[in-house]
Amino acid sequence: MNKFILLLIFSTLLFACKKEEGCTDPNAINYNCEAEQDDGSCEYLEPFVTTPHSITTPYGFPDMLHPTDNPLTEEGIALGKYLFNNPILSHSNGLACTSCHLQENSFSSPSNFSSNVNGVAVTRNAMALVNLGWANNLAWDGRDIGLESKILGTITNPFSMQGSSDSLQARAEKDAQFMTLFAAAFNNEDITIENAAKSLAQYIRTLVSANSKFDRYLKGEEQLSVSELGGYAIFNSEKGDCFHCHGTQQFANNQFHNNGLDPEPFTDLGLGAITGNTADNGKFRSTTLRNIEHTAPYMHDGRFATLEEVVEHYNSGGVWSSNIDPNMKKVGVGLQLTNQEKQDLVAYLMTLTDDEFITTN
Ligand code: HEC
Ligand code: HEC
Repeated sequence: MNKFILLLIFSTLLFACKKEEGCTDPNAINYNCEAEQDDGSCEYLEPFVTTPHSITTPYGFPDMLHPTDNPLTEEGIALGKYLFNNPILSHSNGLACTSCHLQENSFSSPSNFSSNVNGVAVTRNAMALVNLGWANNLAWDGRDIGLESKILGTITNPFSMQGSSDSLQARAEKDAQFMTLFAAAFNNEDITIENAAKSLAQYIRTLVSANSKFDRYLKGEEQLSVSELGGYAIFNSEKGDCFHCHGTQQFANNQFHNNGLDPEPFTDLGLGAITGNTADNGKFRSTTLRNIEHTAPYMHDGRFATLEEVVEHYNSGGVWSSNIDPNMKKVGVGLQLTNQEKQDLVAYLMTLTDDEFITTN
């Protein structure tokens, strides 16, 4: 009943003046009386409409939560995708998001440290961008919480793209395709990097990977081989202990752990540099293992070139430090996997590849 009354009031307001009547009411919606027409009526403005976009929740996932001030629209996503692949946002027009986040690598970088806009190597491996609509902590050290602020930081950071609203506006005027996409997504709003970041966040929320062989196995649509099943059992039991930190549908618990990569003192403090708490030194975010086959090199500094090397690291038990995670239980003794078991674990990790994701987004 209440909804009906609201609808009635809204329609009355909307049709207070009809387009063809030659409206003269300065308060009527969709009329601009500052630009008076020859006949004294107000100029009619086409209403600004965007098309809502919804993401189907994949099997076993929770619903994605969206910030109320940046709902998904077809137009916002189209602009975000254009910006992701176009260097228009960067200081010297030379770097796009895709320079460091390549789709064939599940939107990560195949080099340990990509070069920033000034040609200087950044000190961390560019992360895969997968299912980030479900992630609450971002970056290797959790320095960002929301996608919008993370992306804004990347655009403006002098160690990344060093862009600004001024440089974007100057370039935008020469880019007809950008102007059309922007007008469709944001009406007459200013061309700012804040709006650019919003559209990029929308696009990144659409990068959903949920069609790997392992997903199809969970739905009962496909079988795993004996070796893959063997790897799954190691991953998901005390034997390998991977599931504690790489659990859930994202194969990441989004928390920070020290997984025994280095002894103290750590060269990269990770979470500790953000919180200032020495107990957080050397802790990094456990990132997703989805599409891990395509995201080499591995770890925050890309120190391992292959999955075999990663498995060897965990099999060794890792390096002891005062902040080592309690779930690195086999430090000192190692997991003691046989060669076959190591191969099985790698075979299982490769069932997390989603070919559709790295070819169709
Ligand atoms: C110079 C290379 C480079 C460019 C260009 C770049 N990134 Fe990144 N990106 C990185 C690195 C490195 C990280 C990891 C940062 C860290 O932890 O210190 C990262 C992390 C991210 C993350 C966090 C992912 C996660 O799982 O937490 C997002 C989101 C992201 N980038 C989006 C973008 C977008 C959008 C653009 C374009 C506006 C962009 N990046 C441009 C290198 C780059
Ligand atoms: C104590 C928690 C913990 C356990 C247990 C654990 N991991 Fe990790 N894993 C992490 C963290 C944290 C990172 C990121 C570390 C970094 O880059 O400094 C990581 C990174 C990785 C990466 C590289 C991800 C990337 O994008 O570069 C792979 C692959 C991986 N782990 C696989 C495994 C496997 C397989 C097991 C079980 C044998 C396992 N992990 C057990 C916490 C853990």
